[in-house]
This record gives sequence, C-alpha cells and structure tokens, in this order.
Amino acid sequence: MGDKNCASLALLSILLLSGILHLETIKALGSGCKEVERKALLQFRENLADPSGRLSSWVGEDCCRWRGVSCNNRTASVVKLKLNNPFRHSFDAYEDDAGHELGGPIGPSLLQLKDLNYLDLSMNNFKGFKVPEFIGSLKELRYLNLSGSFFSGTIPQSLGNLSNLLYLDLNNFLDQSNQIGLGWLSGLPSLRHLNLGGADLSKAAADWLQSISMLRSLVELHLPNCNLPILPFHFPSLNFTSLQVLDLSNNGFNSKIPHWLFNITRLSSLDLNTNDLQGDIPDGFASLNSLQQLDLTGNSFLGGRLSRNLGKLCNLRTLKLSRNSISDEVSDFINGLSECTNSSLLEKLELGFNQLTGDLPNSLGYLKNLRYLELWDNSFVGSIPPSIGNLTFLKELYLSSNQMNGFPESFGQLSAIEVLDLDENQWEGIITETHFRNLSNLKEISLYKLSENISLIFNISSHWIPPFKLTFIKIRSCQLGPKFPTWLRNQTELTTLVLNNARISDTIPNWFWQLDLALDELDVGSNELSGRIPNSLGFRFPGTVDLSSNSFEGPLPLWSFNVTKLYLNNNSFSGPIPRDFGQKIPFLTDLDISFNSLNGSVPKSIGNLQQLLTLVISNNNLSDMSNNSLSGEIPYSIGSLLSVRFLILCNNHISGEVPPSLKNCSMMDSLDLGDNQLSGNIPAWIGESMPSLSILRLRSNYFNGAIPPELCKLSALHILDLSHNNLSGFIPSCVGNFSRMKIEPPDFVDVELAGKANQKEIKTTWECCVSRNNLYK
Ligand SMILES: *[C@@H]1O[C@H](CO)[C@@H](O)[C@H](O)[C@H]1NC(C)=O
Ligand SMILES: *[C@@H]1O[C@H](CO)[C@@H](O)[C@H](O)[C@H]1NC(C)=O
Ligand SMILES: *[C@@H]1O[C@H](CO)[C@@H](O)[C@H](O)[C@H]1NC(C)=O
Ligand SMILES: *[C@@H]1O[C@H](CO)[C@@H](O)[C@H](O)[C@H]1NC(C)=O
Ligand SMILES: *[C@@H]1O[C@H](CO)[C@@H](O)[C@H](O)[C@H]1NC(C)=O
Ligand SMILES: *[C@@H]1O[C@H](CO)[C@@H](O)[C@H](O)[C@H]1NC(C)=O
Ligand SMILES: *[C@@H]1O[C@H](CO)[C@@H](O)[C@H](O)[C@H]1NC(C)=O
Ligand SMILES: *[C@@H]1O[C@H](CO)[C@@H](O)[C@H](O)[C@H]1NC(C)=O
Ligand SMILES: *[C@@H]1O[C@H](CO)[C@@H](O)[C@H](O)[C@H]1NC(C)=O
Ligand SMILES: *[C@@H]1O[C@H](CO)[C@@H](O)[C@H](O)[C@H]1NC(C)=O
Ligand SMILES: *[C@@H]1O[C@H](CO)[C@@H](O)[C@H](O)[C@H]1NC(C)=O
Ligand SMILES: *[C@@H]1O[C@H](CO)[C@@H](O)[C@H](O)[C@H]1NC(C)=O
Repeated sequence: MGDKNCASLALLSILLLSGILHLETIKALGSGCKEVERKALLQFRENLADPSGRLSSWVGEDCCRWRGVSCNNRTASVVKLKLNNPFRHSFDAYEDDAGHELGGPIGPSLLQLKDLNYLDLSMNNFKGFKVPEFIGSLKELRYLNLSGSFFSGTIPQSLGNLSNLLYLDLNNFLDQSNQIGLGWLSGLPSLRHLNLGGADLSKAAADWLQSISMLRSLVELHLPNCNLPILPFHFPSLNFTSLQVLDLSNNGFNSKIPHWLFNITRLSSLDLNTNDLQGDIPDGFASLNSLQQLDLTGNSFLGGRLSRNLGKLCNLRTLKLSRNSISDEVSDFINGLSECTNSSLLEKLELGFNQLTGDLPNSLGYLKNLRYLELWDNSFVGSIPPSIGNLTFLKELYLSSNQMNGFPESFGQLSAIEVLDLDENQWEGIITETHFRNLSNLKEISLYKLSENISLIFNISSHWIPPFKLTFIKIRSCQLGPKFPTWLRNQTELTTLVLNNARISDTIPNWFWQLDLALDELDVGSNELSGRIPNSLGFRFPGTVDLSSNSFEGPLPLWSFNVTKLYLNNNSFSGPIPRDFGQKIPFLTDLDISFNSLNGSVPKSIGNLQQLLTLVISNNNLSDMSNNSLSGEIPYSIGSLLSVRFLILCNNHISGEVPPSLKNCSMMDSLDLGDNQLSGNIPAWIGESMPSLSILRLRSNYFNGAIPPELCKLSALHILDLSHNNLSGFIPSCVGNFSRMKIEPPDFVDVELAGKANQKEIKTTWECCVSRNNLYK
C-alpha cells in the first residue's frame, strides 16, 4: 500500500515538472501574444457558456496558438477569431448539436483586440443576448459572420460604423424575426458580400433596393425570405454592376420580372425561386451570358414559352424552372442550347410541374454534360429521342406523369444512370435486354401506372444476367410475365420490390425466397401467382406486404415482426388464422385477409395488435361452410385494439354477443359486423364510446331487443344498417327521415373502400335501414 502511494506521488511531481518545462519552452520561443489581448480573450471566454469545451485549449501564454485564434505573424496581435460551431449545419435544428454551441453575453473585452479584422460566431446560440452595441467599435473588422447564431433583439445601429467591412453574413442571425431597417448600410460602402437571409425587412419595403444600390462594390447579395413585397419594375440608377450572386428567393414579389436585372451582366447566379412573379420569362435573360445558375422555381404564374434566346446561355450549369406555368414546346430552347460552341455546360435541368407539350427534340443528346433531368408532370408526348443514349453522364431522369409512349434502344447506353422515374405515361411496345444493356449503375427504377391497362411488355430472356444491382423496383401495369422474372436472381440488394398487375402466372421460385433480402415493401398483387408462401423473407420496419388478388394457397404466411401492412385478401389461403398471429406481427396497422378460405375463430392474440387501424376479415365463407368459415365468437381481447378505426368482420359465421370490451375502441370509424350470427341486444354503449363512428352495419344477424336511443348521439353517422335482425320496440325518434329507408347502403367489404371512407368528408346524413325487423313505426 505505502509503496504504491509513494510511487504515484513521484509520478505527479514528474508530471508537474514537465508541465513547467513545457511552459518555459514556449516562453523561450518568445512569440507569445500580447498580454493585454490574452487577458481580453480570457475575459471574453469567462462569460461564455461552452458545454463541450471547444475553448479548452485556451490556456497557456501564447494565445496565438489557441483554437480559433489567429495572430498577425509579425506584430503578434490577434487578427482573427473563428469561433463558428462546425457541428451545426441548418438554421432550425438545435437538437443534435446543442452540446457544441457557445452562448452567453459577448463582453466588451473584445475591444482590446485592436487589430481584429475577422470575427465568426456563426451557428452558435446566443439566445437571450443582444448583438452588443460596441460591435460597431471594432473598426478594423472586414469579415463579420453571425449567421445562425440566434441573437435576441435586433440589429445595433452602430453596425453602420464598420466602414471597412467587406463581408457581412447575418443570415438567420436572430432567434425571432424582428423588423430591421436598412439605414445603417450607408456606412458600409466597401461591402462585397451581404447576407440578411430571414431578416424581416418589411419596414424597408419601399426603398430596400435604393438602400442596397449604394453598395457599389457588392459581389454577392443574399436576401432570401426577407418579407420583401416589392421588386421595383423601374430602377434607373443601377449601381451594383459588380454583382455576381443575387438571391431574392422566398419573398412576396408579385410583379413581372424587371428588365434592370438584365443590365447586371456579370451575374453568374440568380435565384428568384418561390415568389409570385408573373408574366412571361423575358428574353432579356439572354443578355446575362455569364449566368451559371438560374432558379425561377415556384412562381406559379410565371409562364410563356422557353425561347431559343434563352438557349444562348451557354454557361448555364443549373436551370431550375419547375412549378411555373411554362407552356408550349421545348424544341427551340433545347435546339438553342445545343448550338453552344463548346457544347452546353448544363448539368441540371428542372422543368417539372409546368404545361410543356410536344416531343422532346433529338437535340437533347447534345446536352452532353447533363447529370440531372427533371421533366415530370408536363404533357410531353411521343418517344424518348434516340439521342438520349449520348447523355453518358446522366444520373437521374424523371419523366413521370407525361403522355410519352416510346423507349428507344439507345436507352441502354445510359451507363451513368442511377435513378429512372418513368411512372404514369403511356409507354407501349416491347422492352428487351438491349434497353438495359449498359445500365450498370442503375439503382432505382419506377414504372408505375395506376390504370390497369397494360401496353408495355418486357420480353427478356430467362438467361439474362443484368449489369445492375437494383435497390428499388416499382413496376405496375406492365407485362413482365407469364414467368416470374428470372433476372431478379442476382438482385440481392433489393429493398423495394413491386411487380403489381404484371401478368405473372407462375409460382414464386424458391431462389427468390432464398435471396436473403431485407425489404421495406413486397407487392406482387394482382397477378396469377399460386403456390404456398414460406416465411423466409426478412423485412425492415415498417414493412409492407401485398400479395392480394392472386391464387396463393396454404396457411396464412406469418411474415416477420417488422411488417406493418399486410394485404393477403382475395387468395385461397385456408386453415385457421394462427393462434400466435398477434405476437408474431405485433406492429400491424393494416390487415386485410378478406376473401380467402379461412376457418376457425379469430384468435385472442389479435388483441396484441395495439397499432391496428384497419382490420378486414370479411368474406371467408366458401361453399363448404362447415369447414371454411370463421366461426366462434369475437374474442374479448379485441377491446385492446385501442386505435382501430376500421373493423370489418362481415360475411362470416361469427356468433355470440358483441363483446363489451369493444367499447375501448373509441377511435372507431367503421364497424361492420353484418351477415354473421351475432345475437343479444345492440349494445347501447356504441352510441357513447365511439363518437367518430360514421358507418355502423349490423345487418343480417340475430340481434334482438330495442334500438338503443343512445345511437342518436352518433353525430358523425353516415350509414346505419340494422336490417334483417329480430329487433323490436319503437324506432328512436332521431332516426329521422324514413323516406331514406329505401336507400340501400353500399356493400362495404374491402379495405380500399375503408381507406377511402377515411379520406372522404363524412356527411351527417342518416342513411337508415331498419327494415325486416319487428319494429313499430
Ligand atoms: C506571415 O504572413 C504572411 C502573410 O499572411 C505570409 O506570407 C508569411 O509567409 C507569413 N510568415 C510566416 C513566418 O509565417
Ligand atoms: C458564415 O458562416 C456560415 C456557417 O458557419 C457559413 O456557411 C457561411 O459561408 C459564412 N459566410 C461567409 C460570407 O463566409
Ligand atoms: C457609431 O454609431 C453610432 C450609432 O449609429 C453613432 O451614434 C456614433 O457616432 C458612431 N461612432 C462613430 C465613431 O462613428
Ligand atoms: C449611383 O451612382 C451615381 C453616380 O455614380 C450616384 O449619383 C447615384 O446616387 C447612385 N445611386 C444610388 C442609388 O446610390
Ligand atoms: C441598361 O443598359 C442599357 C444599355 O447599356 C441602358 O440604356 C439602360 O438605361 C440600362 N437600364 C437600366 C435600368 O439601368
Ligand atoms: C471553347 O473551348 C476552348 C478550349 O476548351 C476555349 O479555348 C474556348 O474559349 C471555348 N470557347 C467558348 C466560346 O467558350
Ligand atoms: C450522338 O452521338 C453520336 C456518336 O457519337 C453522334 O454521331 C451523334 O451526332 C450524337 N447525337 C446527338 C444528338 O448528340
Ligand atoms: C456497353 O457495354 C458493352 C459490354 O457489355 C461494352 O462493350 C460497350 O462499350 C458499352 N457501351 C457503352 C456506350 O458504354
Ligand atoms: C383501357 O383499355 C380499355 C380497352 O382496351 C379501354 O376501353 C380503356 O379506355 C382503357 N383505359 C385507359 C385509362 O386507357
Ligand atoms: C420475345 O423474344 C423472343 C426472342 O428474342 C422472340 O422469339 C419472341 O417472339 C419475343 N416475343 C415477343 C412477344 O416479342
Ligand atoms: C447471377 O446469378 C447467377 C445464377 O444464380 C450466377 O451464376 C452469377 O454468377 C450471378 N452473376 C452476378 C454478376 O452476380
Ligand atoms: C426489423 O427492422 C430493423 C430496422 O429496419 C432491422 O434492424 C431488424 O433486423 C428487423 N428485424 C427483423 C426480425 O427482421
């Protein structure tokens, strides 16, 4: 014991000694910072909160070596304080990085740093503290960055004293949007870079451009999201001719695009997205031939035609024109671009959500640098031009929701393509291996059509080994069958597989079940698939499985734990619902096993499905009723389904009484127990415990007794069907207008309908059916 103590004491003194030696060494080097500045920095730090110890290196004599501090290498005075928080990247997410934010008051000791010309406090959190007035006395500042630092209050007028300032970044620098005037700007004549993003400039609404225009050296101006309502249409004294970057996005401009913009000829980036700009896109843009980025996205009244002149912008890299009202054809514009001397530099072209029509011109193939092409939600027709194969850098192609019909074989040369979105068009013809020959980088393909009509046919050899490994396949209403596609054999990285309505008449081969996939979605619904289903596939949470409308048989497959939506309806699954069903798939929200040949009773474990919203077990009665019917009672445990909204158990042979536990299901929207053998009274609590009930269908059972007047409290009720029972007594007066008795309620059997009922506005009309009972009128 004693020895050990002794030893550690010796160790301690060695450490101390070496510490002293270390400090001595530094002093000997003689380049330490000024003592007055060192003290000033320590005083500055003293006031700050620094939960993660970002300033823990601020010890020792030479403050020039402290983290974030830089000195002039001759005079050793502190010239730069770079204390931005590198751990935060967005302006609203505090959560994951709060631990790294500096905070607290900024003390005036900073004024001791006479030569400070660079101050970056961005992405910290000074909530509750103001930008200090004395900041205007840091005369030498050339760079000031307070972006995302959540100061309270407003801007100190003294900021206008920083006459040497070149860079001022106040993007989202306040914790709430207080109004800011712009008078102080007149004191900053040298400014090159100004960012006031997110500041409320509505007070300066009328003359903001006047104020800014005095800044003759401005190269970058960022005023996004500044509550500016007016973009003056006439502006005679345009002085910022050096301007290269102009961001006026997310304001409320609702005028035409003004022509003075086109005199800022050095402009390389112009962002006017998300305003309410109107009129045609002016040809004047053509004079901005330095333009590399143009973003006019989301000005829903901005339209007209894309002219050939616009296509003369040969330096454009990014053109974003989505969500406008641009109409007519694109040929002229793309022909224009294709004539650029050294070929167009365009890498990103976004024209989605407009009213463009006509064919895509073959000149598209000259835009050789395209990486990203987004044309979705327009009215393009015809075939993809064969020249598409020349776009060898193209990575993402979005053509969904147009009226295009043809695929050229040259498609197979898009060797860089990763994402192909071809949903909702009128593709027709035959797709062969050639169409995919060189798509070795393809990861995602979507060819989904809501309409059932099939006009595109895959004719792919069963020996074909694709060059790609896909993660995402979503194909609906294209013919892939009649055989189950063998080219899936090598697709071991799939997470989504949808082959719905694909005319596959086959069994799912064993190799598929053995691919060792972890899927988010498996949908092979509406084919002619048969055979039994093993339980071998893995799913990630939350998983969706749709095998509906096929001819699968055998016992119900119990898919993995992670499945939340399971549609097995309209098949020939038979046997009982497994007893441990509710334990095996506990996170189910939607279950449809209707129209099968299940028998036995609803197992108690159904009560485990706490997340269940929709349960459809209707129509499991085939001709041989004694063997193929859900019989027995509704288990008491069903009352544990606290969030269930659609409970459809009609058309079975369920007997007994409605279990009182059902009153716990207070979210119920539609309760259909019709066409069973239920008996007893209609529970009065239905009227009190299920306030949102819109459909109550109890027809064709053996209910007796009176209609409980409590049902009158169901103010959202839309359809009530109690017909074909043994009810007696008076009809409650609230069950009003008997002329409606003739209206037969719709057959309410499938989950599609249940889902739709959910979305549609529920009218408060009583469509009442109480016929075929023993009621008094
Ligand atoms: C001092 O700074 C100047 C300008 O930043 C630089 O050119 C020079 O190399 C530096 N000298 C030393 C010794 O670091
Ligand atoms: C200011 O700081 C933010 C975040 O640290 C950074 O993204 C931005 O580029 C800086 N502004 C300037 C003008 O350097
Ligand atoms: C600094 O700004 C304030 C407020 O705008 C002003 O009152 C003061 O005279 C200015 N000081 C100097 C030295 O320019
Ligand atoms: C623009 O510059 C001219 C002289 O070059 C000057 O007379 C005018 O006031 C300036 N305009 C603005 C808005 O500062
Ligand atoms: C734009 O430039 C043209 C030609 O240099 C000039 O005639 C016109 O007055 C300028 N317009 C504006 C609004 O500055
Ligand atoms: C075309 O490219 C060549 C070489 O890359 C370059 O010298 C020339 O200036 C370019 N021409 C244009 C009009 O951009
Ligand atoms: C496509 O590439 C081929 C071969 O390089 C070339 O002959 C053809 O002109 C190109 N077409 C277009 C539209 O770019
Ligand atoms: C396409 O792939 C074949 C081999 O499958 C290769 O010989 C050919 O060069 C590729 N073509 C392109 C345009 O990548
Ligand atoms: C689908 O095809 C049928 C028959 O060929 C046709 O009558 C119907 O209009 C088509 N529907 C659509 C949406 O194309
Ligand atoms: C599919 O391809 C095979 C072989 O290339 C051919 O014999 C057959 O006619 C094609 N079928 C259709 C429907 O095009
Ligand atoms: C694809 O699968 C086949 C058969 O399973 C196998 O022989 C072949 O090596 C696989 N090819 C690739 C590229 O994974
Ligand atoms: C369930 O999903 C999670 C996350 O997606 C995954 O890590 C886990 O392995 C899955 N469990 C099973 C049993 O598949």
